Amino acid sequence: QANERESLYLVSEFANTYFQKILHKTDQGKSIGLSYFKERGFTDETIKKFDLGYGLNEWQAFTDEALKQGYNLDYLSKTGLTIVKGDKRFDRFKGRVLFPIKSMSGRVLGFGGRILIADKKAAKYMNSPESEIYYKSKVLYGIYHAKQAIAKEDNCYLVEGYTDVIQFHQTGITNVVSSSGTALTPDQIRLINRLTKNITVLFDGDAAGMRASLRGIDLILEQGMNVKVCTFPEGEDPDSFAKQNTLEELKAYLTDNAKDFIQFKASILFEESKNDPIKKADTVRDIVNSISKIPDQIKKEIYIQECARIMDISESVLFTTLAQISSKAS
Ligand code: CTP
Ligand code: MN
Ligand code: MN
Ligand code: MN
Ligand code: MN
Repeated sequence: QANERESLYLVSEFANTYFQKILHKTDQGKSIGLSYFKERGFTDETIKKFDLGYGLNEWQAFTDEALKQGYNLDYLSKTGLTIVKGDKRFDRFKGRVLFPIKSMSGRVLGFGGRILIADKKAAKYMNSPESEIYYKSKVLYGIYHAKQAIAKEDNCYLVEGYTDVIQFHQTGITNVVSSSGTALTPDQIRLINRLTKNITVLFDGDAAGMRASLRGIDLILEQGMNVKVCTFPEGEDPDSFAKQNTLEELKAYLTDNAKDFIQFKASILFEESKNDPIKKADTVRDIVNSISKIPDQIKKEIYIQECARIMDISESVLFTTLAQISSKAS
């Protein structure tokens, strides 16, 4: 329903303005939220550019203000900004720093909220629930601020988190979006596909990031796009890495370490399978399986040649394997 959607947009926009006001104009916002962002190395300009905010550590400060301003409780509840339990109302984003999530055209769809101090009992990030305006699988954090640069650079960096996007911008790389922790989806890739055919996956330097990179590859290939992967040193993520390096250093690192998906798969899978013929066979099959996802026949052939060279296997065997995989799939 168009009217209801519009109302959800309006209440989200109000919340976005409110949370920024709390961050910049209240004692609690300044001493807790703003100093948190400053400690992470974000400048005032960056904080404003991304509309970063803060939710007071009170049960219903936001909800009370929204109701006072005439916003309907039903919409506050449907956006998840207010949690309604019987006759009680709770602010969802209480005592958290906030990252508004925007659509391609800049409308506020929801929020990600980070706790300030690590706590084993609470999730590090709490996000808006899905709503009529916020479908997690169709949204990329940062797309509004990145779309022009993605088209201009003809490449999109894909990172895991909110702060990775923000730190890249601050360092000077603006063609970057985040899947925000959810497994990458075909709809998210389609959003990028409208702007460029080239994606460079930059996931965290840990086991989870590695797994996520591997999962993303085939989905990207299936849409006829080109995918490179650049890994970070163990324990680093794009945010922490960008923070420690200048723009020149960051650019050099990305250029030197971005691998074509075959080289990436070969290097990590091969590392585990050195001198083990059976594991090597699995690696080769895994790579050919990825190649089978590529719609373009010419690219397929080129990648088979590349795989043959890297893995030191005859092309004819690889083409036979490819044919077997393709016939099973169809
Ligand atoms: N995420 C989430 N809920 C969690 C943990 C993570 O929604 N409990 C999402 C967030 O969008 C987060 C992203 O997954 O930005 C990547 O997670 P992670 O690497 O753990 O966090 P960072 O982005 O590195 O955040 P920080 O640097 O603040 O720790
Ligand atoms: Mn991570
Ligand atoms: Mn991370
Ligand atoms: Mn991080
Ligand atoms: Mn930097």
